[in-house]
Amino acid sequence: MTELQLANSSLLKSRALIGGAWVDAVAGGTRPVINPATQEVVAEIADCGAQETEAAIAAAERALVQWRDVPAKSRSQLLRRWHDLVLENAEDLALLLTTEQGKPLAEARGEIAYGASYIEWFAEEAKRIYGDTIPARSSDSRIVCTRQPVGVVACITPWNFPNAMLARKIAPALAAGCTVVCKPANETPLSALAIGALAEQAGIPAGVINILAGRTEEIGETLTASPVVRKLSFTGSTPVGKKLVAACAGTMKRTSMELGGNAPFIVFDDADVEKAVQGVMASKFRNAGQTCVCTNRILVQDTIYDTFTDQLMEAVERLRMGDGRDDGVEIGPLIHQHAAEDVRSTVETAVAQGASVLTALSNEEGGPCFVAPTVLGDVTEDMDIFQKEIFGPVAPLTRFSSEAEAIRIANNTPFGLASYLYTKDAARAWRVSEALEYGMVGINEGIISNEAAPFGGIKESGHGREGSRYGLDDYLDIKYLCFGGIDS
Ligand code: SIN
Repeated sequence: MTELQLANSSLLKSRALIGGAWVDAVAGGTRPVINPATQEVVAEIADCGAQETEAAIAAAERALVQWRDVPAKSRSQLLRRWHDLVLENAEDLALLLTTEQGKPLAEARGEIAYGASYIEWFAEEAKRIYGDTIPARSSDSRIVCTRQPVGVVACITPWNFPNAMLARKIAPALAAGCTVVCKPANETPLSALAIGALAEQAGIPAGVINILAGRTEEIGETLTASPVVRKLSFTGSTPVGKKLVAACAGTMKRTSMELGGNAPFIVFDDADVEKAVQGVMASKFRNAGQTCVCTNRILVQDTIYDTFTDQLMEAVERLRMGDGRDDGVEIGPLIHQHAAEDVRSTVETAVAQGASVLTALSNEEGGPCFVAPTVLGDVTEDMDIFQKEIFGPVAPLTRFSSEAEAIRIANNTPFGLASYLYTKDAARAWRVSEALEYGMVGINEGIISNEAAPFGGIKESGHGREGSRYGLDDYLDIKYLCFGGIDS
């Protein structure tokens, strides 16, 4: 087992957090957490299932009674304290994250700051949960709208951003007065449990945040079937999101779904090519290509296709792959061997269908989870790779000749999460942004995620928004109060 050298050893938790207690699985089972760079076991965590999930839901229900009535300012102060503790422990949290997830330490540090920014944002927003008064239809009545917490919320999060995805669900839920039961990915539970420990140290009351990992289907079924859980917020794949929405229908839960993407990155011939290449590098290769907003299809106008391709290949060939804990590493391993094999087979199929491999980096280095950054040329709409979320460091290039063609190709997908376009023409930037069927558009910008902006998609990329002032709406119900008899 790898020894993790943390300055604050209280952050290394292997038990589940339920009702303010750190508990083993009822049957005593554990499951390993593996470092994808080395295949070493990092920790053995409690392998929870239905019984522990029921206990966590009951704890969240009990805590809700008090938490929803805690004044907004006090909720805000507790969240602020939690944010401060996350930043004070950033170095340890980053090391934990890299060890269980694989991303380079510099990116892990960035993720801790990114996750903390959501906690800070919603600490501030907690004080601004306003209602409305509406002009009534008659002089003797009044219409008032208040907003109340939806109740107990289930948060199911993925392994690609084990800290930030959870922070951006828990923070708005708590700000709104909800309590949560969280199921982090089994690949990366340590980051989730560590921020749970910091929430406890910040003084967030027992039962407000509950965190458990283990038998995913059993936990998911218990959460979705429970009438106590009033909302499910999920980040993950579209097929799983569809199953969860169907399972939530039985109790008519509200859902927020941050699902898969197939982001186009359009480079027009009037773009600054150097900046466009930088944008692709940031958007495509962040987290080794394992993000839902990653550039998945690079559409380049044919008049600049060769210039752009040459510059992109140069930049890709400079990338350093390795163990994320080593200095200077920019591309870590994929999350597990199965993921790496899937990406390699996607490339092989694309080549068999006529794409050409333009980079010559070796897949042999590193270990079974490593995939070398790859640029693919001559990719066309009829290839499988065009419709598939790659989730790996592979950059496929497709040619287009006109603005209308670029828009048509970009929208030729059931997904609608992030999209990007590079142009110096402001009118074109407006026209194309409006025509793109996506929840988010980066215009001359490859990194669009931040706490002040509404993150989310349309079409099969899901519904709901995280971050920004809209991010609280998903955790609040509107209540309409009709006052009559005012004249009497
Ligand atoms: C995701 O890939 O799920 C989120 C990435 C981000 O927040 O930028």
